[in-house]
Amino acid sequence: MTKVDFDDMQGLVRFGHGRLVEAEFLLLKVADRNAARAWLFDAPIASAATQSTLPDSALQIAFSAEGLRAFDLSDDIVAQFSQPFLSGMGAENSRSRRLGDTGTNDPEGWRWKEADAHILLMLYGERDGLEAFRASIKDARFHKAFETVQSLQTQPNSGVEPFGFADGISEPKIDWEQSRPPSKHGRETYSNLIAPGEVILGHPNEYDEISPSPSVETDGGFENADRHDLGANGTYLVLRQLQQDVPGFWQFLDLATEGDAERRENLAAKMVGRHRDGTPLMNNRCDISGGRPANNFTYDDDINGVVCPLGAHIRRANPRTGDIPPGNNGILRWLLSTLGFRRRPDKLPGRHDLVASTRFHRLVRRGRAYGPQLSPEEAISKGSDEERGLFFICLCADIVRQFEFVQNAWMASGRFDGLTGEADPLLGNRAPIGGAATGGFTIQTARGVPEHHANLPQFVTVKGGGYFFMPGLKALRYIATTAS
Ligand code: HEM
Repeated sequence: MTKVDFDDMQGLVRFGHGRLVEAEFLLLKVADRNAARAWLFDAPIASAATQSTLPDSALQIAFSAEGLRAFDLSDDIVAQFSQPFLSGMGAENSRSRRLGDTGTNDPEGWRWKEADAHILLMLYGERDGLEAFRASIKDARFHKAFETVQSLQTQPNSGVEPFGFADGISEPKIDWEQSRPPSKHGRETYSNLIAPGEVILGHPNEYDEISPSPSVETDGGFENADRHDLGANGTYLVLRQLQQDVPGFWQFLDLATEGDAERRENLAAKMVGRHRDGTPLMNNRCDISGGRPANNFTYDDDINGVVCPLGAHIRRANPRTGDIPPGNNGILRWLLSTLGFRRRPDKLPGRHDLVASTRFHRLVRRGRAYGPQLSPEEAISKGSDEERGLFFICLCADIVRQFEFVQNAWMASGRFDGLTGEADPLLGNRAPIGGAATGGFTIQTARGVPEHHANLPQFVTVKGGGYFFMPGLKALRYIATTAS
């Protein structure tokens, strides 16, 4: 077993930098390779090691595939990175279809892609501290080394996303110490624990296999699993600029509930699976600790979606016990769960789709909101022409099995957990798939007659996106010095 090395890992993998409320993400192109190498070598990139005093700023860095090439990493090495990272988020029609990036989400209309840039530089600062930090980073050497392609400005982090819901609540717990073998994680009950190899390369993942990672011949000081593991302690970073139509969202809800504020809030909560303050609709087995909204719940007691709709955003994004068949115990239950299958002999027709085991599809989210805030009341009464949304960021070791699976099978698909004709109520692009509608939203009820909302407008539009690789710090030094 290889120990996880926090000194070698970038801080963002372990911490959300939530206290550093200000953030700016820069997409950079290398203008002068030697100057860029020298700058990289000295760059104060934050590690994941615990500091004795809390830092007042943090700098993180990630590369596009083009970026690795710009630092002269040989084709042999670059080719070992994962296929989606190499081809890019918006470069293939089949990928765009799978991710729901069609119609108004089409990459043709995006403002930026990872292929436009070599580097994603992420700056974090305390309130009113970002400007000084930015000035210290963007010195004369920086300007010689890089050309700025895009500067993505964020809204100071308030823990609330633009529709008005508390965000950043549910995160997987990473078993950094590898205290329990992955075979014991949530096979029979839901566990929030995931193996480090689900997030960082070169470590055991939930299959108890080393997450695939590129290696090099030369000694870069990053020995791991008996090889020079260039990916060790690094992660793939998914970034999507998601514009949110906040007036459209609240005006739709207001109309659907005939201007009744209480019903409007309830319908919004049903779409998300949590109330705006973060309280989950599922309140079974919750413990509210440290004043944070509860996250210790499953959908076991709500198999028909009467409390939390089957299609609610958080239920789609992480069905938790979705893979565990009710009523079966012992070896059958374990086997079905382990293989990622379950069948639910429920009363509703058509409820036999298979939901794969959730622990293989967890995401570490690190997003930040952008644009001015707008309350639901203002959104309804005044509307707004200003743009706002989310820089959705997630980290994972396997882009296809984690981000793309969740985005495709659970968010963009019109079929989920027995539902048909509806994609994610927040994210769906509402375009029919194979002739079948995706714009509905169903609220299951105890009476058995569901409440159905048809023809939801599109609330979220993709404005840019890319796949990046965030290396460990030893690998970063290798990229800055040794690569050729
Ligand atoms: C503008 C776009 C989005 C909005 C407004 C949004 C909003 C939210 C909110 C309010 C929560 C509940 C709070 C929390 O647990 O942190 C949540 C949870 C979550 N979202 Fe999103 N989200 C968006 C995009 C996405 C995307 C693109 C994905 C993945 C492809 C995603 C995956 C998740 C996951 C995994 C959770 C945690 C679910 C759980 O474990 O209970 N979200 N989101």
